[in-house]
Amino acid sequence: MDFDINASLTPDAAIRLIEAASGPADLFGSQGSPDASRRYRRLARLTHPDTHGSSGTAGSSWAFARLAELWAQHQGARGPRLARGDIANFYAAGAGLLKLPREVADNDLMDREAAALALLHHGGNDRFSAYFPRLIQAQRVRDPRSGAQRHGNVITRLAGFRSLAEVRSALGGGVDARDVAWMWRRLLVALGAAHRAGVIHGAVLPEHVLIHPGEHGLVLVDWCYSACGTPRAALPAIVGRYRDWYPHEVLAGGRAGRDADIWLATRCMTELMGRRRPARLAAFARGCLLANPSRRPHDAWQLLTELDEVLELLYGPRTFRPFAIPA
Ligand SMILES: Nc1ncnc2c1ncn2[C@@H]1O[C@H](COP(=O)(O)OP(=O)(O)O)[C@@H](O)[C@H]1O
Ligand SMILES: [Mg+2]
Repeated sequence: MDFDINASLTPDAAIRLIEAASGPADLFGSQGSPDASRRYRRLARLTHPDTHGSSGTAGSSWAFARLAELWAQHQGARGPRLARGDIANFYAAGAGLLKLPREVADNDLMDREAAALALLHHGGNDRFSAYFPRLIQAQRVRDPRSGAQRHGNVITRLAGFRSLAEVRSALGGGVDARDVAWMWRRLLVALGAAHRAGVIHGAVLPEHVLIHPGEHGLVLVDWCYSACGTPRAALPAIVGRYRDWYPHEVLAGGRAGRDADIWLATRCMTELMGRRRPARLAAFARGCLLANPSRRPHDAWQLLTELDEVLELLYGPRTFRPFAIPA
């Protein structure tokens, strides 16, 4: 790629760049490159026929048309589908993944995800950033036929991670509570960090909790159902397959708060253990699933302390226990 987005550029130089480009990558970089849409907009401004006087109009309108064609190629250049969620398909995009909704009607959910991920990584620091995918860029994709614009998100691609749904189906008899212990702890850390940033996840479900078995890593994905900046919010949608997992007041159209995230996290963990659930952990879980929302735990950090106490009583001091998912 031979143009520096930050250097000054004349309209004539922009036209020359477009003429010289042998493909979209020459102008926009590789798939998923974070500056691509900025580059496109910059070149489009410089070559737009309206921004030119009488001089060079023919050259600029040719360049403008060619630019549009290359931009469409850049956006359309998707490899094979790598994953499929409830609303979106995933494609490789450089080092990241393009998450593209199948219906434009779900664009608002994609916008929610982009807003939440921006807030979760706000300030760029921080010790909890490993618990959330990073938003590389929001990417608008125009359907060449209908002209409809879909709101995609390019996010970091997690290698070696598996969802709790996969873990559960690989271990039909239930997962040993000593393995569930680190997942539960990390899930509460993720929720503690999200809630502190003012974000409710809204869909803490097995497909959205990805774990790295070897490294005991955990990442909470799918922020499409989230709400930012409010302690309680009406969820934009629920995941129909899990209708009976949600707290009753949320299904009745009530607002979901931090306790609802903790509730769903608890459901994930009890489901994961299945019948291999020790009585003390079952009792701990019941305390998170109380009918009255105001009596439920709201503070994931404090709940983590309480979980640690239960785990210590059950298993003694914490030790690293290797975990592997059977093939
Ligand atoms: N960053 C990621 N890296 C790797 N796989 C992912 C990533 N995000 C999601 N996935 C995979 O895609 C599946 C669906 O993701 P999700 O965000 O829930 O999509 P949807 O919003 O369409 O439901 C996840 O269960 C997981 O298997
Ligand atoms: Mg999902």
